[in-house]
Amino acid sequence: MSEDILFQPSTEVQNVAHVKSMKQYDEMYKESVENPEQFWGKIAEKDFFFKSPPISGKFLNYNFDVNKGKVFVEWMKGAVTNVCYNVLDRHVENGKKDKVCFYWEGNDPDDYSEITYGNLYKQVCKFANVLKSLKIMKGDHVAIYMPMIVELVVAMLACARIGAVHSIVFGGFSSDSLAERIIDGKCCLLITADGVYRGKKLINLKDIADGALKLCKEQNFNVKNTVVVRHLGPSAPLSGKKPTSPAAKRPCTSLTTNITEGCDLWYDDLMADASEECKPEWLDAEDPLFMLYTSGSTGKPKGVVHTQAGYMMYAATTFKYVFDYHDDDIYWCTADIGWITGHSYITYGPMANGATSVLFEGVPTYPGPERCWQVVQKYKVSKFYTAPTLIRTLMKYGEDPIKRFDRSSLKVLGSVGEPINPEAWLFYHKVIGDEKCSIVDTFWQTETGGHTMTPLPGCTPTKPGAATFPFFGIVPVLMDEKGKIIEGEGEGYLVFKQPWPGVMRTVYGNHPRYEQTYFTQFPGYYKTGDGAKRDKDGYMWITGRIDDMVNVSGHLLSTAEVESALVEHEKVAEAAVVSLPHKIKGESCYCFVTLIDGFDFTSELVTDLKSAVRTKIGAFAQPEVIQNAPGLPKTRSGKIMRRILRKIARNDHDFGDVSTMADSSVIEVLFANRPTTN
Ligand code: WT7
Repeated sequence: MSEDILFQPSTEVQNVAHVKSMKQYDEMYKESVENPEQFWGKIAEKDFFFKSPPISGKFLNYNFDVNKGKVFVEWMKGAVTNVCYNVLDRHVENGKKDKVCFYWEGNDPDDYSEITYGNLYKQVCKFANVLKSLKIMKGDHVAIYMPMIVELVVAMLACARIGAVHSIVFGGFSSDSLAERIIDGKCCLLITADGVYRGKKLINLKDIADGALKLCKEQNFNVKNTVVVRHLGPSAPLSGKKPTSPAAKRPCTSLTTNITEGCDLWYDDLMADASEECKPEWLDAEDPLFMLYTSGSTGKPKGVVHTQAGYMMYAATTFKYVFDYHDDDIYWCTADIGWITGHSYITYGPMANGATSVLFEGVPTYPGPERCWQVVQKYKVSKFYTAPTLIRTLMKYGEDPIKRFDRSSLKVLGSVGEPINPEAWLFYHKVIGDEKCSIVDTFWQTETGGHTMTPLPGCTPTKPGAATFPFFGIVPVLMDEKGKIIEGEGEGYLVFKQPWPGVMRTVYGNHPRYEQTYFTQFPGYYKTGDGAKRDKDGYMWITGRIDDMVNVSGHLLSTAEVESALVEHEKVAEAAVVSLPHKIKGESCYCFVTLIDGFDFTSELVTDLKSAVRTKIGAFAQPEVIQNAPGLPKTRSGKIMRRILRKIARNDHDFGDVSTMADSSVIEVLFANRPTTN
C-alpha cells in the first residue's frame, strides 16, 4: 500500500532548495557517476581549502575487484589539506567568528550554554597544544571516551589539527569493550570525563575508563596518560553555565573521581597555560582521519578507517544536499558523537558547512516525553535528524506531548539507523512535521562515511518507508545470492558499484578482513550486507540486514517487513522478528511485540496479529510464535539486539556478551514470558 502513496516535497523547502527538481537531480547524478573527477573536483575547488590542490589524473584511483589484486581506494592522493582547518579556521577567517557553532543542551533542561566558531577555534588550538605537550604526534592514535559535551568536539578536532587519529568509543560502552578497542586500535592516550548524568542515572565514566586501562595493563598494553574533563565536578569550564537551579545536578557532590598522580591529568589544568595559537599540520588527502569500531558478524569489532579529504568532502556534501542546508538553519541531530552519525552529522558535515547545531547531552525522553519538542521550540530547530526507534517510542506517548510545543520552525525531518516502518514514517510526517516537512530516510553505514540512499528534501517525491534513490556518486545494484544482477522490480543484496569519496579505506590492522567482508562475495562491488527491494517505479526500499532475512518455504522475507505489519496494529508499539528453524518450512518467524500501555496481551490479539501479517504479506509469512515483550533488548544507541532475541526464541541461555546492552534485565523477563505454544 505504502508503495503507491507519494508525498511531494515541502514547497517551502523546494522553493529555496539546492536541488529543486528531479530533472536537476538526474543531471547532477549522471555527472557524479559518469565523471566523478569533474563532479567532485568542482566541489573540492569551490567548498574546501587545499594547501596544495588535487593533482589532475590522480583524482581517483581504485580497485574494487579482489580477483584483480589488492582492494584499495584513493581520492585526491597527493593533495594536501587539514580537516580541522576546513571546519574552523576557514569560517573564522570568513567572518563567521561570532556565529554560534553549538548550542549545548545538558541533561537537565536548565543546564545549557553556547559556543561560537571563534571560541571553539581557540579551545581546539589550545588543546592541540596540550596534545603536543603530551608528545602526541601526527599518526598517533588517541582514544576518546566522553559524554556529549563541547570538550568531546574539542578533543576530536584537536586530534585532526595535529594529524593524530581519533578513535571515539561511545560513552555507553563497558570497560571490557573500551579496553578491546584501545588495544586493537593501538591507542597511546585516553581522553575521558569524570562522569555524566543520563536521565536520572549517574555514570562514573572515569571509573569505567580506569577499569578499561587495568584490563589493558593485564594484556601488557600500557596507556601512559588519561586526560580527564571535569564535567560534573566543581568547575565546568566549557559545557554549561554553572547551574543555579537545584534540579540541575552539577556540580555533583556524590561523584568521587580517583586520580592517579603522574598518569591522570585534569583537562582544565592542562588548558590553563596552553597557547591559543597552533598551526595545523598539513596532511595528505589519504592520511587517516579517524577510526571507529563497528560490530562484525564474527563478534570481534572492526576498526573502520576513514581518511582526510574524501571523508570530509562526502560528509559535508551529503549534509548540504540531504538536509538542504542554508546559513540560517538551526540543525539538531539526536545521535551520539560516539557513533558514525555523530561524527559525520554533528561534527564534520555541519561544521564544514559552518552550520549552527544543537549538541544534546541528554536523553530524548527525560525529564519527559516532550523534551525533544521543547528543545525544538527553544532553539527554533529547522532541520531535525533522529532514529525510527525514537519515533516509535514517542508514538507510545501519543500526540499531546508533541502538539503542546511550537514546531513551526521545522522543515526537514531525517531518519537513520534502521528501516523505518510506514507507520512511524507517517507519524513523523503527520504528527511531528504537521504535514509540512520533507522526510528524508537516509540509508548508510559506518563504513560508507555518509548517506548513500536517500531522498533530497526539495525534489524527491517520497514513499513512506522507502530510502528512494542514490546520493551523488553512488551506483546501487541489486544482486541475487550467486551474483546475478537483478534488473527492474525485484529484491536482493544491495551492493555499490564504484567508490564514492566517503567509503572506508580499510579495517584497521586487518586489510584482508576488509576485502573478505565487503568485496569477496561480489567481486567488483562493495557489499552493504543489507537487502533491498526495487519497486515498479524504481524506488529502493531497504529491507534490513541480509542476516535478518528469514527464508520461509523458499520465500525470502525481511524481518523488517513482518515487524512493519505487526506495528500497524493499533495495540502494538514495537515489534522485533527473528528467524526460528522450522521442520517443514525451513525457517519461520518468531515475533516479539511490545504493546502500547494499557492493552492486555490475549490469545485474541495473537490471532489478530497472525492474520494481520498474513493479510499484509501473504499466508506463507504467518508467524509461528507471537510473544509478549514488555521490553526489548537494545544497544545504548537504540538498536534492537536480534542476536539475543534469536537465543530467547530458541530457549538458549547461552547468549554471550551483553556488554553493549542498555538494560540486560529485560532478558530474564523475556525468558519468563516465552509462550509454550500459540
Ligand atoms: C546499518 C548500519 C549509518 C548510521 C547509523 C547506523 C541499518 C541504517 C538505515 C535506513 C534501513 C538502515 C542498515 C545498515 N540502517 N540506516 N535509513 N534504512 N536501514 O550505522 O551502525 O554502521 O549500521 O544500519 O542495516 O547496514 P551502523
